[in-house]
Amino acid sequence: MARIVLGVSGGIAAYKACSLLRLFTEAGHDVTVVPTASALQFVGAPTWEALSGKPVHTGVWDSVHEVPHVRLGQTADLVVVAPATADLLAKAAHGLAGDLLTNVLLTARCPVVMAPAMHTEMWEHAATQANVSTLAERGIHIIPPASGRLTGADTGPGRLPEPEALYAVCERILAHPAPHTGVGSETPGSPDVSARTEATTSELAGRSVVVSAGGTREPLDPVRYLGNRSSGKQGYALAAVAASRGASVTLVAANTSLVAPPGVTVVPVSTALELQAAVERAAKDADVVVMAAAVADFRPAHYTDAKIKKTHDPADPDAAPTITLVRNPDVLAGLVEARGEEATPVIVGFAAETGDEQGGVLQHGRAKLARKGCDLLVVNEVGLDKTFGLDDNTVHILRQGSSHVVDAGPASKEVVAAAVWDAVQEIL
Ligand code: CTP
Repeated sequence: MARIVLGVSGGIAAYKACSLLRLFTEAGHDVTVVPTASALQFVGAPTWEALSGKPVHTGVWDSVHEVPHVRLGQTADLVVVAPATADLLAKAAHGLAGDLLTNVLLTARCPVVMAPAMHTEMWEHAATQANVSTLAERGIHIIPPASGRLTGADTGPGRLPEPEALYAVCERILAHPAPHTGVGSETPGSPDVSARTEATTSELAGRSVVVSAGGTREPLDPVRYLGNRSSGKQGYALAAVAASRGASVTLVAANTSLVAPPGVTVVPVSTALELQAAVERAAKDADVVVMAAAVADFRPAHYTDAKIKKTHDPADPDAAPTITLVRNPDVLAGLVEARGEEATPVIVGFAAETGDEQGGVLQHGRAKLARKGCDLLVVNEVGLDKTFGLDDNTVHILRQGSSHVVDAGPASKEVVAAAVWDAVQEIL
């Protein structure tokens, strides 16, 4: 549980901050919302108070005896401003302290994240870019705006990324907090906008990574398929964290309905064979491949073009078709084989295990790591009430040729993803 101050400045994207607030509170964090007066023109104080369970103030003259303008910033584990308008960025860059949020920004010594959102012209204006540059040089994490449809008919960079993507970045920063002192930084300024606004850190900068996510579907007829319960959340968290560390990320997504993390190229697929083709294509130039997808081991031997009908023969009321299955290729094993003696790409497998009379979850994991020949195996315990579709996960990370086990969780899938990338970075 972290103490988070969610700053909201006055842009239309303030409504998205409601969902971000929900993600924080559902994860168990203690959130105080500090909107600007303009933000309340878009979303009123009762909404923030109901969603956070706390009173909401915009100025420094409320509850003065508690000295909130100093205490909130001093005691926070994370300050997030989403959306950060051009006006808020300008005030923060120049150290103005006319309201509660700007006071919090001056007193915070924890990591600070800002997610700018505005019209493209305002974002690209030299004044805004100079302010963003100043803030980034002081160690503030700038999540660059996404491109797409803006409030009016126009499109371009300026959209606030989706709440799930902002949440993933915040969880990652909470898992690895590097304090932001706000009193100057030794990092030299960069004239390059893309470098300045890189999401968070650059441990994977220049690396190309492929992540597979979701669960494949193997069609039987036009309306039916064999599938599995994977939601894709862990794979999406892996993609989001890799992007936030500066990697160029291709996410091969099988049958998911999740929002793409900012900056990630999504390749939608459905069957195991489609997933294999997409992963193998992307893996050619990759430094790392993470196979988080639940790939069906079998598919129906025959696809029936027309819907399979039940018979209405009164002599045989229980008649049912027999479905013959054939094996699907093992994509992970294929990647290991194609790599041969080369060191790249680093290959990470996942193992969904339940444990049985033959052995526990870890024992099965070790056997699978040896069988599959990948560099890391992320073993998670699955069951009807575990892992699938949930936001939290518990995993054990096994490394080829080492008896050491890294345990991660129970924690959010973003925190687990961060532990996986830490392990990958050790190999890289
Ligand atoms: N995998 C794959 N291709 C398949 C099946 C699985 O690439 N046809 C990958 C998954 O993406 C995962 C890993 O292999 O990274 C482990 O998958 P899992 O289904 O747990 O293991 P299996 O090899 O199917 O072993 P078992 O049936 O014994 O559980």
